[in-house]
Amino acid sequence: MVQALELLKDLSDGRFCSGEELAKKYSVSRMAVHNATRKLRDLGIRIDAVTGRGYRWRYPVELLDADLITSALTEPADSLAPAVEVLPKIDSTSAYLLRKLRRRQTGTRVCLAEYQSAGKGRRGRQWVSPFGSNLYMSLLWRFESNAAALGGLGLVVGVAVAEVLEAQGVSDIGLKWPNDLYWRGKKLGGILVEMSGRANGSCNVVIGIGLNVRMPAEDGESIDKPWTNLTAALPPDTTISRNKLAAELISGLVSTLHRFEHSELYGLQENWQRYDITRGKPVELVSEGNTISGVSAGIDALGRIVIGNDEGTMAYAAGDISLNIMP
Ligand code: BTN
Repeated sequence: MVQALELLKDLSDGRFCSGEELAKKYSVSRMAVHNATRKLRDLGIRIDAVTGRGYRWRYPVELLDADLITSALTEPADSLAPAVEVLPKIDSTSAYLLRKLRRRQTGTRVCLAEYQSAGKGRRGRQWVSPFGSNLYMSLLWRFESNAAALGGLGLVVGVAVAEVLEAQGVSDIGLKWPNDLYWRGKKLGGILVEMSGRANGSCNVVIGIGLNVRMPAEDGESIDKPWTNLTAALPPDTTISRNKLAAELISGLVSTLHRFEHSELYGLQENWQRYDITRGKPVELVSEGNTISGVSAGIDALGRIVIGNDEGTMAYAAGDISLNIMP
């Protein structure tokens, strides 16, 4: 038998591979190879089949590999190595970790997937998650403080991701309150924080990060706002190793979470301000049936957005709110 995902590795250099060659390698029939490629197509993977040349993966990437990721983790995240899991497909990496939490599997862990069939965005939106194109990653973390003290967590995570991307060579990385990563006016990624805790008790948090690395245009068609890819944001000809990038993100995030957890003085306001793309701009805050217009004055120490208008200046917590920058 040939495993479809095994076969994908043979196609991951983007060159044509003949059915005969593949059949020989796995000691199977050409029909078995053909069936395996159909399974790959069922996952939305674009496999080209050309008579006389064979099969080719149209948008090949370096597949995720738990060993490559964990061997590149730096302190203090390196101790998490056994708890990093890579799945070929899942409904949602965050839903997966939340299920573990419900089964009382509460230790810190990380899950990455090549494909999400039901990727979750903020406010009940779908997160478009085609196979092997981007990064979909969730981290389960336990805080010994109650949920109310973690109001700014999503913003802290945003700053951590922005810092990693900047260190990778992305200039002009921006953050749009509360949880969007932007590059030159287009969305590059997003953060979803889900909490499960008791008042005055400890709190388990699942932090989900989605980052567009090389989203095929065909898949991006269903996204209803301007979006971009990391390939566009990096200098031309930069080779992106998704494994290295995943390791950098986990390492950066874990070190930031430690600082946030152990220090009241994390300095969210000044760290956020470096990347804030809304400050000083006319904005519109939209929550259920309510719209507030004004000018953004950045965030306060709790991570709330501060908006000024004729009626005065008010701070708003993220909750179920979205923010539009007005033209
Ligand atoms: C947003 O901007 O709306 C947040 C998007 C968060 C997407 C990530 S992808 C990994 C993790 N798993 C999910 O289902 N969602 C988050």
